[in-house]
Amino acid sequence: MCGIVGYVGAREAVNVLLEGLHRLEYRGYDSSGIAVYDGKAEFDPLAAENPGTGPIAIRKRVGRVSELSAAVAAQPVSGNLGIGHTRWATHGGISEPNSHPHVGGNGEVVVVHNGVIENYAILKTRLQALGYVFRSQTDTEVVAHLIAHHLDEQVRLGGAATDRKTILATVQIAVKSLKGTYGLGIIFRDHPGLLVAVRSGSPLVVGVGKGEHFLASDASPLAGYTDEVVYLSDHELVLLTADSLELIHRDHGRTSPSIQVLDQTESGSELGEFEHYMLKEIYEQPTTVENALRGRLDDDAATAKFGGLNLDSQKLRRIDRIVLTGCGTSWHAGLVGEYLIEEFARIPVEVEYASEFRYRNPPLSDQTMIFAITQSGETADTLAAMRESQRKGHSTLAICNVVGSTIAREADGGIYLHAGPEVGVASTKAFTSQVTVLTLLALYLGRLRHMSYPAGKRIISHLRAMPEILRHTLKCHEAVKEVAQKYHDASNILYMGRGYNFPVALEGALKLKEISYIHAEGYPAAEMKHGPIALVDENTPSIFVIPRGSMYPKVMSNLEEVKARRGPVIAIACEGDETMAGLADDVIYVPDVEDYLQPLVAAIPLQLLAYHIALLRGCNVDRPRNLAKSVTVE
Ligand code: G6P
Repeated sequence: MCGIVGYVGAREAVNVLLEGLHRLEYRGYDSSGIAVYDGKAEFDPLAAENPGTGPIAIRKRVGRVSELSAAVAAQPVSGNLGIGHTRWATHGGISEPNSHPHVGGNGEVVVVHNGVIENYAILKTRLQALGYVFRSQTDTEVVAHLIAHHLDEQVRLGGAATDRKTILATVQIAVKSLKGTYGLGIIFRDHPGLLVAVRSGSPLVVGVGKGEHFLASDASPLAGYTDEVVYLSDHELVLLTADSLELIHRDHGRTSPSIQVLDQTESGSELGEFEHYMLKEIYEQPTTVENALRGRLDDDAATAKFGGLNLDSQKLRRIDRIVLTGCGTSWHAGLVGEYLIEEFARIPVEVEYASEFRYRNPPLSDQTMIFAITQSGETADTLAAMRESQRKGHSTLAICNVVGSTIAREADGGIYLHAGPEVGVASTKAFTSQVTVLTLLALYLGRLRHMSYPAGKRIISHLRAMPEILRHTLKCHEAVKEVAQKYHDASNILYMGRGYNFPVALEGALKLKEISYIHAEGYPAAEMKHGPIALVDENTPSIFVIPRGSMYPKVMSNLEEVKARRGPVIAIACEGDETMAGLADDVIYVPDVEDYLQPLVAAIPLQLLAYHIALLRGCNVDRPRNLAKSVTVE
């Protein structure tokens, strides 16, 4: 998956690249590297450290981008053209040789890549037979050698290596052999001022400055440099110099770039008083839920309103089924959405893992409505699922946080979360914003159908109270810390909930797994009897999400079953529930709200619990091992 950045202009490229990589670290942080055209580096592609390609200097480091910055400070590079990469390993282990950039041929070309080349093995065999020597186990190095190979061929056919036409033909021919997904940033030994990029499946955006151009996987590295951007479409190739931008589509030839102006008003990625982004984002939730509600409550009509659904109410009334698709936490939010929409609007809902949905061929009628749920708007499987349903003629809407992301741009309409940047890899505020938006959607669809005016009014007043209720919920923090202290050594933790709180149990378990590396399972509380109860013993705590409401007595019985087997029980219960104090080993109290709003309040103590347990275990809460904020490969 990985993040790409590139620069050509008058600035020191290295500064732009390193800063950009810091901002793209959410896409992977196994290792990072840069290549800068400094005009003087020695070419030693086999050097253990910092191989260069003649005039192109390369620096790579395993670990965070800060390691790379330190390496660059120790061994500076200087130049006005460069590419950089932060890696989430797919092909080949986490090592310096496997880090990007990769050098092709005898140093004619240097490449960074986001995506997966599916036919890399066969291409590698062919290139090895032609004499190309591989220094890594990556699929990307195949691309580098392939381009070098076609460049040599073009030169043999009479093209000049210094001619831009030769470069264009070379890259166009080379990418024809690639199967899979790629966003590529490429620089050439014989072109000190040329940056080439091409994409298929992986996002790339060009920043247009005055006498300079930027390249990146998303717009975040461009902030502060330029607000004018060109989003590349699939099969578009761009030749960038300081002063020119030439865009060529595989099928349509030269096209004029459509420049868009970025809205950079949504900032807020500074840590401020908080020690970690995750904690900051947990604490932002009263505000982010308020932002998700802002301007969307229609008191007069007792419904919700949205600016960007792009569907008329007649069409919405005819919907006979809704599919919600997403990955990870977004999929969990979809599960809450299923309960909400079915209860409020009486429309059947299915929640599909995007990675499964994209390859299934479920029968979908013209009246089926599909929503892609995604924080980043860049998750490869969610994007592919959306494109697949669009291909079949279904308008597909997005519930998305990142404005201008690929999914936000390609969806037929949608609803933004307006939660601001989420930096912590474990999603927190995006989840509660997604649930809030899905509640609004359920209200809206309900009011188009059978829901009464007073029922709509009631939901609006409940929603309006939520930001304050969530502020109050955060007061559970001290109690959560104590529970974390008591259980942080556990090897397994079970999470139980029913009804609206079943997805909350899944989400609580996911949070714990992601950042503390403790094995955790979320289960519908009653289903526990069919398997997980075998795990219960005095060392395996069970967390029951058991607020008051229709499911309370049922979950209570499940809780008793665990107690009877000497399993420690932690209850997330409603304030004032004295019975629970006498029953559970530990109780974390949250405000009493309607059933359908319980996921919003119950999520908060579970997020805090995962956070504190991870801290006590010495884990990196914002950058957990093996994960990435945005999974841009399938
Ligand atoms: C990754 C992140 C998760 C996130 C999931 C879906 O796995 O680590 O936190 O829930 O991707 O991401 P999306 O941006 O599509 O919501």
